Amino acid sequence: MKKGSKEVKIKFETDWKYAPAPESSDHIKLKSSYDLFINGEFVTPSSGKYFETVNPSNEKKIADVADANEKDVDNAVKSARQAYEKVWSRMPAKERGKYIFRIARIMQERARELAVIETMDGGKAIRESRDIDVPLAAAHFFYYAGWADKIEYAVPGTKTKSLGVAGQIIPWNFPLLMAAWKIAPALAAGNTVVLKPAETTPLTALKLAEIISDAGLPPGVVNIITGAGATGAALVNHPGIDKIAFTGSTDVGKIIQKALAGTSKKYTLELGGKAANIIFEDATIDQAVEGIINGIFFNQGHVCCAGSRLFVQESIAKKVIRKLKDRMETLIVGDPLDKNTDVGAINSKMQLDKIKQYIKIGMNEGGECFQTSCSIPTKGYWHRPTLFTNVSQSSRIVQEEIFGPVLSVQTFRTVEEVIEKANNIPYGLSGGVWTDKGSKIFRVTSALRAGVVWANTYNKFDPTSPFGGYKESGMGREGGLHGLMPYLSIEN
Ligand code: NAI
Ligand code: MG
Repeated sequence: MKKGSKEVKIKFETDWKYAPAPESSDHIKLKSSYDLFINGEFVTPSSGKYFETVNPSNEKKIADVADANEKDVDNAVKSARQAYEKVWSRMPAKERGKYIFRIARIMQERARELAVIETMDGGKAIRESRDIDVPLAAAHFFYYAGWADKIEYAVPGTKTKSLGVAGQIIPWNFPLLMAAWKIAPALAAGNTVVLKPAETTPLTALKLAEIISDAGLPPGVVNIITGAGATGAALVNHPGIDKIAFTGSTDVGKIIQKALAGTSKKYTLELGGKAANIIFEDATIDQAVEGIINGIFFNQGHVCCAGSRLFVQESIAKKVIRKLKDRMETLIVGDPLDKNTDVGAINSKMQLDKIKQYIKIGMNEGGECFQTSCSIPTKGYWHRPTLFTNVSQSSRIVQEEIFGPVLSVQTFRTVEEVIEKANNIPYGLSGGVWTDKGSKIFRVTSALRAGVVWANTYNKFDPTSPFGGYKESGMGREGGLHGLMPYLSIEN
């Protein structure tokens, strides 16, 4: 732009509006109350207690959900054990594969319903549940269905055995997808399962229970019990469990690791993250800006591998930040069921409070806060896309996982400097590198202490690809061939 000329900005809120494109919810079937799925049946919880799951975009209750106590956990584990010993472990592997394949097929058939329920229960944009969560969840079942009768090729030259009963605890950011990540490899490897979804998003897991029932799985092979932290803890501590798979916060991951120390239970922990997304001066800037947006604002930033720390090379920092702010202004925040929505509702009031707390911390630390000017609904839990500049390595908003649509921006001059800064963090789950130079990609990706590093893209997932972290981001891998290993023991 010439000096002195006045910049004309498009006002996205007023000048340019999309017509509403709401996905209808009249085709979905939800009960007003959900019981526990144990031994192939929905049974009332022994305490008689239920809790509510709400729609975070309007704070309306969707359904009551059973609160499982220790006795229910015990029943679920016993039913899984019985199914393991009497049916699942004795069944020919190719038969097990057929059941897993059937689950995938029914998920595809009911994809629209699953996507709408996922969006209603958790607040994520329908575009994401429809195009990412549900298809990827089905893809995991398809992929592991294929492994079921080929386990001997997974670890050539050895004899493997299934473990028995897996206890699986999942979070609220990708409820159905996380259920698929957990259940599919466990079943393929010949184990049975007790799964506990998160308390704010139990509905798609309960729908999955219906699908599992429709697929004709023998009773007890998959049990789905709902409840909060206490239910999860009862599952972790149950002596009849052979393996725990957990995805969630680092704090709870540490509690679980302590609880399992000294037991023979195997475990995998997929915990928090604070990924560096690194933009070099030779990157294609507009593509990189898209990658930054996708990295941090996908799923409202409720993503363990979110690119929440942006590192921009100093020579292009001004330009990138300007383009990024412009692009942020175009993000449509609002009704998650609208197909135009980019950023949906924050998952819960608790999570919104946590994000707001971090905004205060960032301001108090001297960070410069930019938020988009969009209007947000008055009811429900919402947060505007936010960017912080003037932050340093020691800032809490740079070091700690916020799990919301909040990006911190730092600059760097050299490759060595950015590697040092990117790794200077307790987490090590993921990262991103943007550059035109293949050699730089290899140099940086191999130096980053992170489980997954994307180059010139971000947040790409595939069932064949392993996922997991270093340091406080957890241990073990899920997905791909690696994802089978935690469900097998090597016998010779
Ligand atoms: P959380 O770790 O408490 O919840 C995850 C799951 O663990 C839920 O199913 C929960 O019921 C269960 N759980 C809670 N306490 C347990 C215990 N003592 N034993 C066994 N299971 C237990 O996560 P929360 O409180 O919902 O979110 C807090 C923060 O955790 C977020 O702000 C975010 O920073 C991080 N988080 C990270 C996730 C990730 O994918 N890495 C997912 C969810 C949260
Ligand atoms: Mg909910």
